[in-house]
Amino acid sequence: MRKTIIAGNWKMNHTGAEVRETLSALIGYVADKGMPEVIVAPVFPYLGEAVSLAKETGVRIAAQNMHWKDSGAYTGEVSPAMLVDVGVSHVILGHSERRTYFNETDGTVNLKVKAALAHGLMPVLCCGETLEQRERGSATAVIEAQIATALDGINREEIDRIIVAYEPVWAIGTGKTAGVAEAQEACSAIRRKIAGLYGKDLAAAVSVLYGGSVKAENIAALTSAPDIDGGLVGGASLKADDFAAIIQHAVIK
Ligand code: 13P
Repeated sequence: MRKTIIAGNWKMNHTGAEVRETLSALIGYVADKGMPEVIVAPVFPYLGEAVSLAKETGVRIAAQNMHWKDSGAYTGEVSPAMLVDVGVSHVILGHSERRTYFNETDGTVNLKVKAALAHGLMPVLCCGETLEQRERGSATAVIEAQIATALDGINREEIDRIIVAYEPVWAIGTGKTAGVAEAQEACSAIRRKIAGLYGKDLAAAVSVLYGGSVKAENIAALTSAPDIDGGLVGGASLKADDFAAIIQHAVIK
């Protein structure tokens, strides 16, 4: 059955000393078995160091983005081959901040998902609607379209190597969490869409995370919902204590 996963997206935060301190403290907390899988995504310059620190511990290291090409004249970009070379196992793709501030589209997210899988990296594929789209009643349609395009060309053997994160844009960094019922409905719509594309059994194996103002106080209720398999955490993952509390309160179904 699918895994419960708690992932920390550190976004553009933490310089070297803070990465070392936070990650070392976190590693101390997640030594126990029977915990969710824990993933942490620091910024590019510290990925190699983070991988070394987290080696043979329960913490996996993710990048927050990548280009889809192996190499070339793409100033400022980082390739999947480079992430593999430094030992990263996961990569967050299509985060709403990338879509909003850096013009990422479902099409480029699709190229990145395919490239990540081709290199053996596990994508954490983000989707989610804006407040305007939700108020217009098109949240489910938006999410389904994002998923369908992002997964275009992904075959049946690859789908269980993808983690999906539902992050409603209006809940990110705002302190507003989607209600458990709302989040469950969206995560279940994602799973139904994947089932429509790949069949029920394969869809049942995909972990679907919720993201948007996740904290220790709401993670248990969120992860108790049948289709929510963990959290993608921003602000509350920056301090090891706060993040550890989320990991400890997550419900493993
Ligand atoms: P916050 O937890 O700060 O709302 O951020 C969520 C997020 O964007 C994680 O990717």
